[in-house]
Amino acid sequence: MTKHFFDNRYGTGQSTLDGIIRLTDMLLAGKNVVVAGYGWCGRGVAMKARGMGSKVIVTEVDEVKALEAVMDGFQVMSMTKAAALGDLFITLTGDIHVIDKHHFKLMKSGVVICNSGHFDVEINVAALSKMAKSKREAKPLVDEYVLSNNKKIYLLAQGRLINLAGAEGHPASVMDMSFANQALCAEHIVGNYMKMDKQVYDVPARIDKNVALLKLKSMGIAIDKLTNEQKKYLSSWEIGT
Ligand SMILES: NC(=O)c1ccc[n+]([C@@H]2O[C@H](COP(=O)([O-])OP(=O)(O)OC[C@H]3O[C@@H](n4cnc5c(N)ncnc54)[C@H](O)[C@@H]3O)[C@@H](O)[C@H]2O)c1
Repeated sequence: MTKHFFDNRYGTGQSTLDGIIRLTDMLLAGKNVVVAGYGWCGRGVAMKARGMGSKVIVTEVDEVKALEAVMDGFQVMSMTKAAALGDLFITLTGDIHVIDKHHFKLMKSGVVICNSGHFDVEINVAALSKMAKSKREAKPLVDEYVLSNNKKIYLLAQGRLINLAGAEGHPASVMDMSFANQALCAEHIVGNYMKMDKQVYDVPARIDKNVALLKLKSMGIAIDKLTNEQKKYLSSWEIGT
């Protein structure tokens, strides 16, 4: 039972780019940044990279997410097409071999590749190692692979989570919401487990709303409340007054 779009979108977005910048000192402005996966994490990274002046390309396998990315103003294409264009590649899919042997072959020399998904399977590092004629640690957590045509590919943090390897992970001011959510869910389970089956449940909306309200309060932000007239209007079938 967990809902985590706050930390995935805002936390991963910021900390992933933070990790990349700290390890590479790369100027993101003007770069072609390829973001694989437009889920909660991917859209956070895409949004932040665009904010730093990157030209962001999104790759997806889900039609709806792909369309959302298009409508959000990103270029959307296959990884095979993006491979030849990208300067920086970031995977956030939860999937295996999203960047694979045939993609490495198409990449420009000097590209940087990294992963911010949970496991180190998203980039086929074994295939990259096999293709490379040499490998050296250019600097800590930055491995330079030289392919047979002298093309160089830089892999960050061995394909492990870049925001944990290169930075401190999510800022505390995002994790507070995740932990509040988890604590309130634990309380909910203690009070309701008799009525619950062994399955995954969505976080009850009242818990999400409560955490959001507490966060807004802590930021000194007050929002409008529905008046009784508005509640009645919004829940009625009648159009007009
Ligand atoms: N770095 C972090 O701190 C951090 C934080 C939270 C989650 N994660 C991890 O990041 C990953 C993504 O999390 P999420 O919450 O965004 O998940 P999500 O399910 O919302 O999004 C994943 C997206 O990847 C897409 N996808 C799957 N296979 C693909 C492929 N081959 N090519 C392109 N797109 C593909 C899916 O269609 C989906 O839209 C997970 O592994 C998750 O555990 C990392």
